[in-house]
Amino acid sequence: MKKITVLILFIVSTIFSLKADEGMWPLTLIKQLENEMQAKGLKLTAEDIYSINKSCLKDAVLRLMNKTTNRMFCTGEIISNEGLFLTNHHCGYGSIQELSTPQDNILKNGFWAKNKAEERLAKFNVGILVKVEDVTDLVIGTIKVNDDEFTRIAAINERLTKAKEQLVSREENKYMVDIIAFYNGNKYLAMFYEVFKDIRLVGTPPENIGKFGGETDNWTWPRHTCDFSMFRIYTDKNNKPADFSNSNVPYTPKHFFPISLKGYKPGDFAMIMGYPGRTSRYTYSEGINYYANIDRPSRVKVRRAILDVYEESMFADPNIKLMYADKYAGLSNYWKKFKGEVDGLKKLKLYDRRKEAEKNMKEWIKANQKEEIYNEMFVLYDDVFAKLNKYGIYQSYYSDGVLNSQPLSIALSYTAFEKHYKNGKPDEETKKKIDELAAQNAKALPDLFHEFYTPIEKKVFAKVIQYLYEDINHSLLPAEIVKIVEKYDKDYNKMAETIFKKSMFVNREKLEKFNLSPDYKKLKKDPIYIIAYAYYNKMNSEMKPIFDEINNKLNRANRLFQSALMEMNAGKVYNPDANATMRLTYGTVEQYQARDAVVYKEYTSANGVVEKYTPGDIEFDAPQKLIDLMQKKDFGQYADAQGNLHTCFLTTNDITGGNSGSPVINGNGELIGTAFDGNWEAISSDFAFEPDLQRTISLDIRYTLFILDKYAGAGYLLNEMKIIK
Ligand code: ARG
Repeated sequence: MKKITVLILFIVSTIFSLKADEGMWPLTLIKQLENEMQAKGLKLTAEDIYSINKSCLKDAVLRLMNKTTNRMFCTGEIISNEGLFLTNHHCGYGSIQELSTPQDNILKNGFWAKNKAEERLAKFNVGILVKVEDVTDLVIGTIKVNDDEFTRIAAINERLTKAKEQLVSREENKYMVDIIAFYNGNKYLAMFYEVFKDIRLVGTPPENIGKFGGETDNWTWPRHTCDFSMFRIYTDKNNKPADFSNSNVPYTPKHFFPISLKGYKPGDFAMIMGYPGRTSRYTYSEGINYYANIDRPSRVKVRRAILDVYEESMFADPNIKLMYADKYAGLSNYWKKFKGEVDGLKKLKLYDRRKEAEKNMKEWIKANQKEEIYNEMFVLYDDVFAKLNKYGIYQSYYSDGVLNSQPLSIALSYTAFEKHYKNGKPDEETKKKIDELAAQNAKALPDLFHEFYTPIEKKVFAKVIQYLYEDINHSLLPAEIVKIVEKYDKDYNKMAETIFKKSMFVNREKLEKFNLSPDYKKLKKDPIYIIAYAYYNKMNSEMKPIFDEINNKLNRANRLFQSALMEMNAGKVYNPDANATMRLTYGTVEQYQARDAVVYKEYTSANGVVEKYTPGDIEFDAPQKLIDLMQKKDFGQYADAQGNLHTCFLTTNDITGGNSGSPVINGNGELIGTAFDGNWEAISSDFAFEPDLQRTISLDIRYTLFILDKYAGAGYLLNEMKIIK
């Protein structure tokens, strides 16, 4: 489920109590859960799942990462001895879009490599977790939980950098090492990853199968989306990571998942391993109000306006649809989620529940005379959220508005020039740096203009400026923006029209020229640059102390809160918030009651695809061949005992954004599906787990193989898999 598409700036969390199946467990804790998992139906040991001495399940679980930043975005799983792996269609989406052209539109038509030579290079990296080490002592040492914040941050940062260098060189530079804070900085774990860089697309269904149901069905059940795509990892001759080369060979994994065609029934054990990105369980009460009333609504508003602009052009022109496909899907995905959270948080009365829990904690603090250490945190929290209520929108509109306007976002990548011109004319040395920067920018241009359709961008620009002007207190807005809006007498379209004529940030050729001989004066006169820089500069100068203070206080409060909680419930096995590290969640296959009198069955079938099928519709069309196969019930070995084909199914697992593409594994360690979404009734699950309501939505592996084999005629790929019948 759930691709990560958004950077959530303020994360708060902790755990009050553990309920059934809640928990995205770090692998270092699963030994303690072994008995409980086995009681639920697991036939393996904790060592079979995670061991640093022998091959185990974790060796087949992949972390999909951005090629340039190594930022994690999805999960995948290896399913053959030749490095073949599965992930979601919506995870491969960006790569599939990039490999498509109007003439060869594989996003629309699907693609299957007939042999390895036909596989196509994809632009992302894949990490495999080698091991985890507790480095808390190295990082925290004798620093106390309530030591002065600034001293603490400086000391921790210094130790973090040192510890990382030490570990990287100890491992002879073989691994990427991430040192990650757990329990809000009360514990630190080092993650060692082998990072593979030659990844190739093997196959994908056409979009009207892989994204069947589109945005309408997104985040909902019952679901019939065949959300998968397949790739392969290549390595050098020694099975080690290497940049792309024709002489590279398929990766031989330490482990790959066998695939079960036996299906499941309600109550069967199911576990998911993958990379959940962020959760904010147990956000402070006033934080819940801030997200529900300020942060989410402002993001929803600006995203919706941009989506409306996109849709107008995308629905009218298939080439524009292709150009903006990935950007649209990402914006829309979290538009819908944030919108759901606004209602969800209120419906679940989370504010009141948190207030109650905080009251209990206050009583515990008093009874145990811990006021001196812990009372501070409530004051900090109240202060932080009062400030966020006032200033938070500046950041929400930056991440969801300003950065989603392509010209503004391109202009922002040129602000790096500023520091070189700080003291007037640059010297020789600095000139060299400026040229380097310009060369870098020149290289980035094709990516920056990958999605750029001027009529869309003009309207988006106008909308973003309009919302900044209307919704942000003018004392917080840079004077340049207020001035420009008023100069055009609030005629935003006219403003955009004129500015687009004058700016070089809407024109790739003009920017190419600029990069050849960067001229600071010209940059400073560019009207789009003026706006982008003004906003950015305000945020990084005047507003910086405010946001630094907010973040420091929030981090401190969170850390104290978590520490108090762990003291309050000593001996409990704690399940830390998601932080883009590998986690395991276990549970069972289960239906749920969505609302009064409405009970949803635990799986969907091909019948539902045929029912939803709407020829010509943007979201519910499907290939005729698929409908024919389904109507004939030509399901072969993929049918259940009654001759039906299962499409998607539900489990009680606890997942979030980043888990997209994760393996759903039965008690024997075999693959039964690929996780791809969460359900609408539990849309606020990042803030609270609701055992009766929350379900993971997964694609049934039998539907995946049916598409591959019966629909696409790519059954030859089955030869490299291990199928359990
Ligand atoms: N909601 C799912 C997720 O967050 C799927 C997103 C992609 N699908 C879409 N229609 N935009 O991973």
